[in-house]
Amino acid sequence: MRFATAWRNALVLIAFTTVCLAGCGQPSGTAQRGARVYAMHCQACHGQHGEGGLAPELTGEHYHKNVSQTIAWIKYALPPMPQLYRAPLSEQEVDDVSVFVASL
Ligand code: HEC
Repeated sequence: MRFATAWRNALVLIAFTTVCLAGCGQPSGTAQRGARVYAMHCQACHGQHGEGGLAPELTGEHYHKNVSQTIAWIKYALPPMPQLYRAPLSEQEVDDVSVFVASL
C-alpha cells in the first residue's frame, strides 16, 4: 500500500516535470508579433518607441520586470493602466507584447 502511494507520487512528479520541460512558465511570445500589438494597443499612452507620454516610459523596463512579471502586470492591470486582457488582448498577444516590451 505504502509502496503504491510512493510509486504514484513518483509518477505524478515525472509527469509534471515532463510537462514543465515542454514549456512550463515559458512565455511563448515573439517580439515581432508583439510590436504589432504594441502599435495598436500601447503606443498611444507609452509612446511610439516606449519613450513615454501619457504613461511612463517602457524603455529599460526589463531592469524592473522580467517577461513573466510584465505579463502579470498587463493581465492584472490596475488603474490608471487599462485592463486589456482578455479583451481586446488574448493570452498570446499579452505574451507577445511582453517579449516586445523587454526588447525596448
Ligand atoms: C490608456 C493608457 C495606457 C495604455 C493604452 C497602456 N498603458 Fe501601460 N500604463 C499606463 C499608465 C498610466 C501606467 C502607470 C501605472 C502606475 O504607475 O500605476 C502604465 C504602466 C505600465 C507598465 C509598468 C511601468 C512601470 O513603470 O513599471 C507596463 C509594463 C505597461 N504599462 C505596459 C503596457 C502595455 C504592454 C500596454 C499595451 C498592451 C499598455 N501598457 C497600454 C497607461 C496605459
